[in-house]
Amino acid sequence: MGLGIAGMVNEKHKTSVPKENDQIGRECFMQSKIILRMALAVLAMLFTSTVFASEWASYDELGNLEHGKKIFTEGKGDVPPCNSCHGPAGLGDDSMGTPRLAGQGFNYIVKQLEDFGSDKRKDETMYIMNTNAKGLNEQDRRDVAAYVASLPKDAKGSDLKAVKDLGTVQVGTRYLGKSLVMYGAPSRDIPACHSCHGFNGRGAYPVYPMIGNQKYVYLVNQLKNWHSGARANDPLSQMQKVARKLTDEDIYNVATYLTTAPRTTGGNNLIPVQR
Ligand code: HEC
Ligand code: HEC
Repeated sequence: MGLGIAGMVNEKHKTSVPKENDQIGRECFMQSKIILRMALAVLAMLFTSTVFASEWASYDELGNLEHGKKIFTEGKGDVPPCNSCHGPAGLGDDSMGTPRLAGQGFNYIVKQLEDFGSDKRKDETMYIMNTNAKGLNEQDRRDVAAYVASLPKDAKGSDLKAVKDLGTVQVGTRYLGKSLVMYGAPSRDIPACHSCHGFNGRGAYPVYPMIGNQKYVYLVNQLKNWHSGARANDPLSQMQKVARKLTDEDIYNVATYLTTAPRTTGGNNLIPVQR
C-alpha cells in the first residue's frame, strides 16, 4: 500500500515510481512520527489538570448547556450575567474592552476562568473577571464555557470606524498586520502568529485560542499585557516571548488585521472541527 502521492499513482504505473521515493517516504513518515510524539509530550505536560476534555466530544457532553445559558443570561448569586458585558451574542464590546467569547475553545475558556479564579491572571481593566470567576464553581465554569463555545463562530470582528470614533486607541495598518500573522518577521525573530494560532488566528485548540475575529480593543490590551508581563498565565511563556518583541505599531497592525481576518481561504471553506 502506497501512502500520500505514491498512493495516488495509477496501479499500472506503480512500478515506475523510483525505489528511492519509497525510502524517502519512510523517512518522512518516521520523522513525522517523532514530531507527533514531541507534540503529544508537550500536550501531556500542559494538560495534567482536569482542564483537558476530549476535543471531539459534542458540546452537551462538555457541560450542561441549559445551565451555562442560564449563567450567561441571568448570572449566578453575586455574579452578573455575562451578556451584560460580553454582549447578547457573546461577541464582546470595544467600548468596555470585553472579548468575544462566542466560538472560543472550550478548554481555553475553562483555563482562563481557573486562572482568574486563582489570580494567576488579573483582569487589568476592572478586576471584575477575578471576582466573577471566584463566584463560579468548577461545574459552573464548564457549563458556561460549553455554552459560549457552542455559539456561532461566524466572522464578526470590530467595526474599526467605530473604534476610531471611540478616540481611546489608535488603529493600525491592515496589510502590515497580515504579513505578521502569516509570516512573522524573521529578521526580528518574531514567529508567524499563524504557526500557533492556526490559519488567520482561527484557533488551534486546546492550547491556542482563537484570536481572529476577536474584538480590537481587547486584542490590543492583551498584546500590551503580554508585552509588559502584566499577563503571564501562558504555558511555557510562549506568548510573552512573542509579544516582548512586538512594538506598539506591530500590536495595532496585527490587531487591525486579525479582527476582520477571514476564517477560511477562498479555495477551501472547511474549518477543522475542534473545541
Ligand atoms: C462587568 C463586566 C463583565 C461581566 C459581567 C463578565 N465579564 Fe468576562 N470579561 C470582562 C472584561 C473587561 C474582560 C477582559 C479582561 C482583561 O482585559 O484582562 C473579560 C474577560 C473574560 C474572559 C477571558 C477571555 C479570553 O479570551 O481570554 C472570559 C473567559 C470571560 N470574561 C468570561 C466571562 C463569563 C463566563 C462571565 C459570566 C459569568 C463574564 N465573563 C462576565 C468583563 C466582564
Ligand atoms: C509559540 C506559540 C505562539 C505564537 C507564535 C503566538 N502565540 Fe499568541 N498565544 C499563545 C498561547 C499558548 C496563548 C494562550 C495563553 C493562555 O493559555 O492564556 C496565546 C494567547 C494569545 C492572545 C490572547 C487571546 C485571548 O483570548 O486572550 C493573543 C491576543 C495572542 N496570543 C496574539 C498573538 C499574536 C498577534 C501572535 C503573532 C504576532 C501570536 N499570538 C503568536 C501562543 C503563541
